[in-house]
Amino acid sequence: MSQNNLSKIIIIDFGSQFTQLIARRIRELGVYCELINHKQINKINNFVKIKGIILSGGPLNVYETKKIKFNASILKKKIPILGICFGHQLISKTLGGKVKKAKQREFGLVRIKKVKNSPLIINFFKKNLKNNVWMSHADEVIKLAKNFKVIAKSENANFCMIENSKDKFYGIQFHPEVTHTDNGKIILQNFVYRICRLKKNWSSKNQKMILINEVKKQVGNSKVICALSGGVDSSVVAKLLSNAIGKKLTCIFVNTGLLRKNEEQQVINTFKKKFKINLVYINAKNLFLKKLKNVSDPEKKRKIIGNLFIKLFERYSKKIKNVKFLAQGTLYPDLIESKSVTGSQTSKIKSHHNVGGLPKIMKLKLVEPLKFLFKDEVRKLGLELKLPKEIISRHPFPGPGLAIRMPGYITEEKVKILKEADNIFIQNLISHKLYDKIWQAYAALLPVKTVGVMGDNRTYEYICLLRAITSEDGMTADFYNFNKDFIQTVSNKIVNNIRGINRVVYDVTSKPPSTIELE
Ligand code: XMP
Repeated sequence: MSQNNLSKIIIIDFGSQFTQLIARRIRELGVYCELINHKQINKINNFVKIKGIILSGGPLNVYETKKIKFNASILKKKIPILGICFGHQLISKTLGGKVKKAKQREFGLVRIKKVKNSPLIINFFKKNLKNNVWMSHADEVIKLAKNFKVIAKSENANFCMIENSKDKFYGIQFHPEVTHTDNGKIILQNFVYRICRLKKNWSSKNQKMILINEVKKQVGNSKVICALSGGVDSSVVAKLLSNAIGKKLTCIFVNTGLLRKNEEQQVINTFKKKFKINLVYINAKNLFLKKLKNVSDPEKKRKIIGNLFIKLFERYSKKIKNVKFLAQGTLYPDLIESKSVTGSQTSKIKSHHNVGGLPKIMKLKLVEPLKFLFKDEVRKLGLELKLPKEIISRHPFPGPGLAIRMPGYITEEKVKILKEADNIFIQNLISHKLYDKIWQAYAALLPVKTVGVMGDNRTYEYICLLRAITSEDGMTADFYNFNKDFIQTVSNKIVNNIRGINRVVYDVTSKPPSTIELE
């Protein structure tokens, strides 16, 4: 199948951090959409299948006319248009309205009030006709363009939601795509189904076919290598590529010795034995331990592991001839956390292990088929690719592995203890049917020993910390509220079965202020 045959929404991107979120919401509604940079509107040469256009938000000001390459001819195509934030201001200004710096900037939750009916707000407002919406703007529309009417206003802004029902042009100052907006999804739903009259035409199956076609087109006859970690993202990339290019793919799996219990065996069984994918297995346990000896600084650990990983990867990939591409399981939130999508600086919290690094040194081109997807979309895609459920629903695991779940020095003995403790925790989560309710859970080993008593004897052993969080995307998180019986069962099993641990604690901090991992 080709996406060219599908009716679609086009999202014109003006550089907002949320543009991909709009795309994701449209996909969630089961409708195909495409993103286009605002400078490329001229390149659209066929409007037949475009049933609606969304103009995104962005960091620009509508009066910076030199920077904005907006081809207003798309307003004449008789296609419904929804402008969001900057997009709302842009439609207004282009059609003769006025936009000015707002007297009162609005950031965060703002209450808006319904003024009139519109197909855009069917079922959107609560009974009291007021909703909280997420705003993020310093400019505002102060005069409507011809034929526009107000649908809703806030205390500070009279033109929060506007429409020109004849031409089906809509503008909203707030962001319906973020979850903070009450019923935000209903606005997009109304636009897509009621106003653009689109029908469902999109699923993970379509997504799989489209991504496979894109990979084939990008890679051609070249060979590709893929760093397979056994986690969800790299597993989905490996299987997707294997479906697309078969034996032109070689996966390289580095056993750092810092993986979860039995993980290496599972990767070999699934990818080499079951899927018959070319897999190079590098057992570098001892090397990693040696390089990490006497290192306790978290960033140093990350750097050592990252660099060694690159070195090994480079050494083994050189043995494969004619490789031109490196496949990576980068997801959309990885891009946001590592660098702002609009190009502005964000503060660096941790040196992430899997974004960048490899290709710079190896001069390979990147294949990143998942880079616009969110984790749950990747999981759905994985199921579509027939990956085993244990891999798909597995909690995220950081590239530096158990090294960053073991503050202080890393020793073989500690790694062994931690693997066992983590396994007990995870197996109990599974058997108590809690695993899928939790976004990420793990055991860590703290670098302090405390006194305990077992039988009639004094013990002096490590503390095991358990962490379990709920989250949507790993960017913020809450700790999971276990009942006492469960956490006591796990604590008993860990202390009774593992020599080296005599105390178990549970981490009750959210992110922020903590991060999910300890280092
Ligand atoms: P933090 O600790 O930053 O973790 O709150 C957020 C999510 O990212 C994972 N994480 C990593 N994943 N390479 C990865 O692939 C890394 O270096 C890395 N560091 C943290 C972490 O497990 C959590 O899911």
